[in-house]
Amino acid sequence: METTTYKITDVEKDREAIKACGELLAAGGLVGMPTETVYGLAANALDPVAVEAIFTAKGRPQDNPLIVHISDMNMLYDLVNTVPESAVALAGRFWPGPLTMVFPKSEKIPSVVSAGMDSVAIRFPSHPVARALIAAAGVPLAAPSANLSGHPSPTTAKHVEEDLGGRIAAILDAGPCGVGVESTVISLVEERPTLLRPGGITFEQLKEVLPDVQISTGVLNQLPEGAKVRSPGMKYKHYAPKAEVTILDGDREQYAAYVNGEEGAYALCFTEDIPLLKGPYVSYGSEGDSGEQAELLFACLRKLDELGAEKVFAHMPAQTGVGLAVYNRLLRSAAFRVIKL
Ligand code: TXA
Ligand code: MG
Repeated sequence: METTTYKITDVEKDREAIKACGELLAAGGLVGMPTETVYGLAANALDPVAVEAIFTAKGRPQDNPLIVHISDMNMLYDLVNTVPESAVALAGRFWPGPLTMVFPKSEKIPSVVSAGMDSVAIRFPSHPVARALIAAAGVPLAAPSANLSGHPSPTTAKHVEEDLGGRIAAILDAGPCGVGVESTVISLVEERPTLLRPGGITFEQLKEVLPDVQISTGVLNQLPEGAKVRSPGMKYKHYAPKAEVTILDGDREQYAAYVNGEEGAYALCFTEDIPLLKGPYVSYGSEGDSGEQAELLFACLRKLDELGAEKVFAHMPAQTGVGLAVYNRLLRSAAFRVIKL
């Protein structure tokens, strides 16, 4: 299949391309969709055959459910069984934006979307092109990140082409994603609201609206083999470059000394570490700027692959604010290897 990439600079000016992609989606096709977090691989969420094609294109395990994307609040009520008050409060504060909420699902959601579970994850993205595309398709869109399963999530259209070119009908290229890590996932079907995946909306922000929100243990801990998880995405090794990644927890001098002592190693470092390093490095932003680290992390992991890195030592990020999401993704790409210096 030939993949057509459409450059989008303005939702109004480029509305023909968005309309064409909306028609592709309505006809059961797959489209690479820019969002404020990462690029998604979209299909009509109400068409089980189209959704099935997402799993095939990505090589995604069948038991990992998809997020359904909406472009206005009215679309929500058809897709879920109940809208708890906590959801109304969160939506009022954070939608449209990088927050996904898990609800009890309605019968309209095909079981391939929810991987057989009785809940469904819904997100109302803020990216103008994502919203215009959903509106043009006229249906809610199921969309996982648009990478091959196990690869780092794509933050540019080029990343989508690298992974899925030839497997999908079209890509809308609206430039690099601003947030850079996937949306925050919160479950509202537990006794207490539970953070399943940290992301662009921080735990601290969620707490302001829902003081009793808790962090699921799977967020920062490796789950035992065969454990029953609330969010199937937690159990897969994710975001992994080909290299073996290890996180080093220490200050600038300790970090540099360790990496400099490792023959052939690459540093995945902060900009402030660069003057102390003797070997090759890729910098994922300034030490104090979690937002910048989130924006750059996935592109850096891809870059390390391009460079042929086999052994990578990442400098441990702060875990507050968006830093929690950065650390969560890095932990998975490092298969939970952390060395305390
Ligand atoms: O930012 C994002 O969320 C991006 C963009 C494209 O919107 N999408 C994304 O989708 O990251 P994906 O499929 O890569 O990750 C979805 C995560 C997985 O960890 C999955 O297990 C979880 O959400 N999830 C989906 N439905 C769920 C459900 N019903 N209950 C619990 N977790 C669910
Ligand atoms: Mg993903």
